[in-house]
Amino acid sequence: MKPIKVGLLGIGTVGSGTFQVLKRNQEEIRRRAGRGIEIAMVADLNVERARELTGGACEVVADARQVVEHPDIDIVVELIGGYGIARELVLKAIANGKHVVTANKALLATHGNEIFKAAQEKGVMVAFEAAVAGGIPIIKALREGLTANRIEWIAGIINGTTNFILSEMRDKGLDFDVVLKEAQRLGYAEADPTFDIEGVDAAHKATIMSAIAFGIPVQFDKAHVEGITKLQATDIRYAEQLGYRIKLLGIAKRAEVNGVAGIELRVHPTLIPAKRLIANVEGAMNAVLVQGDAVGATLYYGKGAGAEPTASAVIADLVDITRLATADPGHRVPHLAFQPNAMTDTPILPMSEITTSYYLRMQVADQPGVLADITRILADATISIDAMLQKEPAEGESQTDIIMLTHQTREKHVEAAIARIEALPTVAGQVTKIRLEQLS
Ligand code: HSE
Repeated sequence: MKPIKVGLLGIGTVGSGTFQVLKRNQEEIRRRAGRGIEIAMVADLNVERARELTGGACEVVADARQVVEHPDIDIVVELIGGYGIARELVLKAIANGKHVVTANKALLATHGNEIFKAAQEKGVMVAFEAAVAGGIPIIKALREGLTANRIEWIAGIINGTTNFILSEMRDKGLDFDVVLKEAQRLGYAEADPTFDIEGVDAAHKATIMSAIAFGIPVQFDKAHVEGITKLQATDIRYAEQLGYRIKLLGIAKRAEVNGVAGIELRVHPTLIPAKRLIANVEGAMNAVLVQGDAVGATLYYGKGAGAEPTASAVIADLVDITRLATADPGHRVPHLAFQPNAMTDTPILPMSEITTSYYLRMQVADQPGVLADITRILADATISIDAMLQKEPAEGESQTDIIMLTHQTREKHVEAAIARIEALPTVAGQVTKIRLEQLS
């Protein structure tokens, strides 16, 4: 059988990794896919570099439109990123009857509904294993391996840059700004790290996973997105003393408010018990914990970025498409795991309605009645305290830190209590609030 022909849009880190791995393992991949997979065309603005990387093995063009319009190309691999030209090219490829593989989480989290609908109508596949957690086959696991389950929740360390920064902050006791600079110097953080450190990249990935887990449309605009820029080394230390680690988690969870079903979709720094396996995922590694009603907890760990780990996911998609290209579209695995006519409109809950536990740090005057005032406010808001830590004031200081961990409660109750605590004359500045998940 003739090889299936692939057109690569962009041959940067992931594109060149894909080219190299396909070349190195071509015989194994052909035996698995049932026919050869050949990169026949590459589009990249840097034509010279692309020619060098591909060594004359395929046609190189500067204009990506030539690839999506080319009649010989069966699969377009979009590795450009962003949601401007990438969206246009993906939709054009679909309109031209080509299957698409993409690593572009930003594109799918924001325009996925439009893209999957177009693909469905045209009978082509859009595969995106590389868009979430790089080399970890989490899309395959959620969509196929766990298909028997009602997924209860997903919690993932799905951004390597921030996990690297948090690991360094904890190991070395350094503040965020110092570690970020070092991470940039070492190449662990981008020159413009905004999407990573502000939690946007993780929220894109959590949005995609929420759709697959719960059979809802992608709704990035409803996700709560909070990064690690305000996190202080002090809180990492206190958390450690209480037996917790702080990780940036992407969380998608079924919930119920007043008997009505909803979904929590949120990214924020989170305290998790230090003894959990996922709490020990260090450096730039990724991990995703999935709770299914039948299987229980399953954990997926690996590299979330990098040339060959991401290429591993891109090529897995190429093999899937190669195997299924001739199958009746109605019998393929649905893009978002659930059949398009069986999606639900379960709403994403506003943050005020989420339920979790909290770490609260308050700077207080060391005088009688302060603790009683604070605990009274928490009791009025029906918030139960789970643990507490108070340090002696430092030599010559009249203020000290009180740290409290709460039992599970509604975010709106905590917000109301914090406003009252901050109004106490004995409490200085703002209360630091970090959410806490037991993940069990
Ligand atoms: N920038 C991402 C990270 C990798 O730091 O994990 C690509 O999604």
